[in-house]
Amino acid sequence: MAGLTLRAVAKRFGTVEAVKAIDLEVADGEFIVLVGPSGCGKSTLLRMIAGLEEISSGEILLDGRNIDAMAPRDRDMAMVFQDYALYPHMTVAENLGFALKMRDMPAAAIAERVSEVARMLELDALLARKPRALSGGQRQRVALGRALIREPEVFLFDEPLSNLDAKLRVGMRMEIRKLQMALGTTSIYVTHDQIEAMTMADRIVVLRLGEVQQIGTPMDIYERPANSFVGTFIGSPPMSLLPATLRREGDELNLLFGAGQEIALPKPRIEALTRAKVDRVEVGLRPEHVSLAGKSRADVAGFSSDIILVEDHGADSVAVVSLGGQEIMARVKPGSARVGDAGRRFHVDADRLHLFHPETGAALV
Ligand SMILES: Nc1ncnc2c1ncn2[C@@H]1O[C@H](COP(=O)(O)OP(=O)(O)OP(=O)(O)O)[C@@H](O)[C@H]1O
Ligand SMILES: [Mg+2]
Repeated sequence: MAGLTLRAVAKRFGTVEAVKAIDLEVADGEFIVLVGPSGCGKSTLLRMIAGLEEISSGEILLDGRNIDAMAPRDRDMAMVFQDYALYPHMTVAENLGFALKMRDMPAAAIAERVSEVARMLELDALLARKPRALSGGQRQRVALGRALIREPEVFLFDEPLSNLDAKLRVGMRMEIRKLQMALGTTSIYVTHDQIEAMTMADRIVVLRLGEVQQIGTPMDIYERPANSFVGTFIGSPPMSLLPATLRREGDELNLLFGAGQEIALPKPRIEALTRAKVDRVEVGLRPEHVSLAGKSRADVAGFSSDIILVEDHGADSVAVVSLGGQEIMARVKPGSARVGDAGRRFHVDADRLHLFHPETGAALV
């Protein structure tokens, strides 16, 4: 059992508040991803959990016990860094076995554990090599193996895949998740890559300027972003954000974009907006909220636009179109839209588009 609790954990570097009073409850065996833009405090938070950075205030508990005064080596956590941090003069086998040697494990037992972990990570054939004779992906696997071999209570990962090429990253993120699930080790994984966060996490913690924006499962966060920052940060291609004014017409309420394109809102959305007492909103549109409505059917609830650009992704395509004078993206079937097509009709999913407060950015629900 290794649940981790953060209570109002904060870090100040002089006047810089790198992490502001973060509360987080990590369940035993859970895979938590900390995600956010550069400088938002991800590494600082992870380093405080590891004990590599002192906390300014708050407390950290492992299995209900306060570990703030505990040295990093006593915390039973293994950290995997972005730059691998392998010992260059040691072979792969020596790198893997180093932590066990430091704990005075007998050589025969170390050799057994090393070959076990090497098998798990397909490093068997590379055990006699030095790190400089390995590819980036192989080095990353050795770094991972060094963490695995210790059988720690908690894994801490700080952008472990960011030095790898795109294809290797996809393979490695699956390997890491499979190993973690098999071992059941509580894990905290830092990344600025929202796709890694979406695909790997049991729960995502979105950070911005040292503050938690939202905590939830990937689909929670994707479908119900707490604010426009989370909405635009999570999702690929990204959500477009565009200002709209509200135009009331009897019981109806329309979003008015730019000069005159209007979209009627369904009843629950009207109620939310009435409660919020706003006359303007920021509208968050994901590409899948905007779709082609067939050939110029002016009766479809939506808008007309020329096709500005088409990106083919293989299984689907994304068309860049214009709504209210602003470019947005629409998900379309490959081949169904061509650059230069004029006046195509688009349907907007008014049930699913996101509405945010024009000043605070908070979701209006
Ligand atoms: N030792 C330090 N002294 C002063 N400020 C620091 C120190 N370490 C980090 N900071 C500041 O704290 C903030 C958070 O840094 P941190 O490294 O945690 O960000 P990050 O989210 O990991 O970013 P990245 O994605 O670029 O790695 C930044 O503004 C950074 O400049
Ligand atoms: Mg960092």
